[in-house]
Amino acid sequence: MTTTGPAVQVDVDKLMQFVFRAVDEVGATLNTALVVMGDRLGLYRALAGAGPLSPAELAERTGTAERYVREWLNAQAAGEYVTYDPDTGRYTLPPEQTVALTDPDSPAYLPGFFQIALGSVLDSPKIVEAAATGAGFGWHEHVHDVHEGCERFFRTGYNAHLMSEWLPALDDVVAKLERGAVVADVGCGHGASTILMAQAFPNSTFVGSDYHDGSIETARRQAQEAGVTARVRFETAPAGAYNGTGYDLVTMFDCLHDMGDPVGAARHVRRTLGPDGTWMIVEPKAGDRVEENLNPVGRAFYGFSTLLCTPASLSQDVGLALGAQAGEARIRDVVTAGGFTRFRRVAETPFNIVYEARP
Ligand SMILES: C[S@@+](CC[C@H](N)C(=O)[O-])C[C@H]1O[C@@H](n2cnc3c(N)ncnc32)[C@H](O)[C@@H]1O
Repeated sequence: MTTTGPAVQVDVDKLMQFVFRAVDEVGATLNTALVVMGDRLGLYRALAGAGPLSPAELAERTGTAERYVREWLNAQAAGEYVTYDPDTGRYTLPPEQTVALTDPDSPAYLPGFFQIALGSVLDSPKIVEAAATGAGFGWHEHVHDVHEGCERFFRTGYNAHLMSEWLPALDDVVAKLERGAVVADVGCGHGASTILMAQAFPNSTFVGSDYHDGSIETARRQAQEAGVTARVRFETAPAGAYNGTGYDLVTMFDCLHDMGDPVGAARHVRRTLGPDGTWMIVEPKAGDRVEENLNPVGRAFYGFSTLLCTPASLSQDVGLALGAQAGEARIRDVVTAGGFTRFRRVAETPFNIVYEARP
């Protein structure tokens, strides 16, 4: 033990453990940019299934500069993203990393997660300013990496769980969708969830809405590319004022906690749902108490919440700022205050909880 002042006793071993943990974390922070670099330059895709490659071979295959690629590969090897063979000087992307870094259809696909993290860090000086005064910072004000990374990250979870687990967990909803239902997907961002549902249920029609017009433009383009525009419409509208009534199903994917006035949004859902309708709320996985969220998933979500979700809510009227780790009890309060009488948790994954609310 040593003493740094009259009152504070410091355990030097613990101090050094913390310092070396920080070295690892700084490496991981920089790796966020390196993963986006590898994704954007096609480095992972060129390594995928190619067997061992030298930096020159990888640079040649991707049309990039060997000196950068060599340095990038060494950083990837130090972080165990690729393996390095000192006898040949070649680098290999292992099968598991190949799936996680290059297969957009895998539930383990990661580039979007890194992209939204990078975008959040890029905008962090604005959040530092906002935190000094309590001002908000809107979702629409962020760099494009936040919007696109968000879509790419969440889409993998929706692909993996929406049709197989989440919708079937709701009372009678799949049968209605198969027969032909009218659905509002509120806070839809780039419309990944809207388009997925439209592809799965050809007898149903869908209205996706979001207050961010840039996201709605992207959603429209993607609906066109997916060939579902006959049954899918997108509109720019806040959650408290989207159009239409008599919906069989209203969905909100990872957005209720981002809203300034989630209770106002809940009231609008209640007004626009048909009498036997269902509101499905997908929220980030969280326990009610802080101590339940002090784990790696909670750490990532509290980080996103500080840099994205809380400022987004504070930028809007009311500014309730639920935060990404609101937990079931607070979501239930919001839903109940919005006039719903039934509320239950119906499914969960390592990243999400799904709730069902009924009038
Ligand atoms: C984390 S993103 C999720 C987007 C999309 N649902 C998804 O899962 O990919 C949150 C979304 O909520 C939208 N949003 C925030 N406040 C809103 C409001 N008051 N009304 C409508 N949309 C809102 C943002 O524009 C953003 O697209």
